[in-house]
Amino acid sequence: MVPKSLRTLGGHQGSVLVSITAVGISLVLYFLRHNMSFTGPSVGSGGRTVRRAFEFGRTYVVRPKGRHQATVVWLHGLGDNGSSWSQLLETLPLPNIKWICPTAPTQPISVFGGFPSTAWFDVGDLSEDAPDDLDGLDASAAHVANLLSTEPADIKLGVGGFSMGAATALYSATCFTMGKYGNNNPYPANLSAVVGLSGWLPCSKTLRNKLEGVDEARRRAASLPILLCHGKGDDVVPYKFGEKSSRALNSTGFQDMSFKSYDGLGHFTIPQEMDEVCAWLTSKLGLDRSS
Ligand SMILES: *[C@@H]1O[C@H](CO)[C@@H](O)[C@H](O)[C@H]1NC(C)=O
Ligand SMILES: *[C@@H]1O[C@H](CO)[C@@H](O)[C@H](O)[C@H]1NC(C)=O
Ligand SMILES: *[C@@H]1O[C@H](CO)[C@@H](O)[C@H](O)[C@H]1NC(C)=O
Repeated sequence: MVPKSLRTLGGHQGSVLVSITAVGISLVLYFLRHNMSFTGPSVGSGGRTVRRAFEFGRTYVVRPKGRHQATVVWLHGLGDNGSSWSQLLETLPLPNIKWICPTAPTQPISVFGGFPSTAWFDVGDLSEDAPDDLDGLDASAAHVANLLSTEPADIKLGVGGFSMGAATALYSATCFTMGKYGNNNPYPANLSAVVGLSGWLPCSKTLRNKLEGVDEARRRAASLPILLCHGKGDDVVPYKFGEKSSRALNSTGFQDMSFKSYDGLGHFTIPQEMDEVCAWLTSKLGLDRSS
């Protein structure tokens, strides 16, 4: 039987949008339904004593069609790659943005019983209390910041993503505001906008403590624009994860937060959502308006 979300997905969208999520979701559903287990190296939260090597995949760049004003790194979801999103981003009416779409390392995923998949960090289980894979998050946030760090000084920088790519983008937002990664290494990029679609905020429980008493961090949090979008019909990353993440961010001092919800939207994107992303980025990054 095909799950409902995948059936509506097929009827809803053109092939590019479908391909973005179908692979990742069908992998998750396949392994969850068949309760399959593969033995592989353990990389769960207990693996922090073991140094992991992260080999990132291919990076796809979409050059700006007009004057280059901003560069945004965009992060795909579980089991996907940078190519599929670069094809969608290329079609958006944002001629002043250069998009950088990296591909996550292929690594054993705990929720797949150790079966390898492209992922920005390891996912243990799909609950809110699951421990965060800090090493993986730090490595991916550093990969993103390094991709941005070679951009010219007058170019505005942003990070966005879908699903676990959104989680990595939001984690990057917290590293930027703290001025350092979870491992205390300095965070090198100056972010001007962060977008998360159908995702969640990692390490949300410790965020308040970390930001408290650090004036510089509070100032950065207050002025960093964040856009979160989530479908109310999301059966992979529940809608309430997105809603709670937006509340956690706003209540810890991210005052320029927008949260958009979409009735009936599952774990994928639709043109209406991308239209709002375009309008929001144009405004927050101060891009030339074409019309
Ligand atoms: C990227 O992922 C899409 C599905 O989202 C797949 O069709 C395509 O073959 C993948 N491309 C590469 C280069 O891995
Ligand atoms: C970071 O970017 C903002 C604009 O988005 C700018 O006001 C600020 O001066 C920049 N900070 C640094 C350290 O470059
Ligand atoms: C976030 O918090 C500020 C006050 O700190 C408030 O004015 C704003 O409406 C809040 N935004 C959201 C989306 O909750």
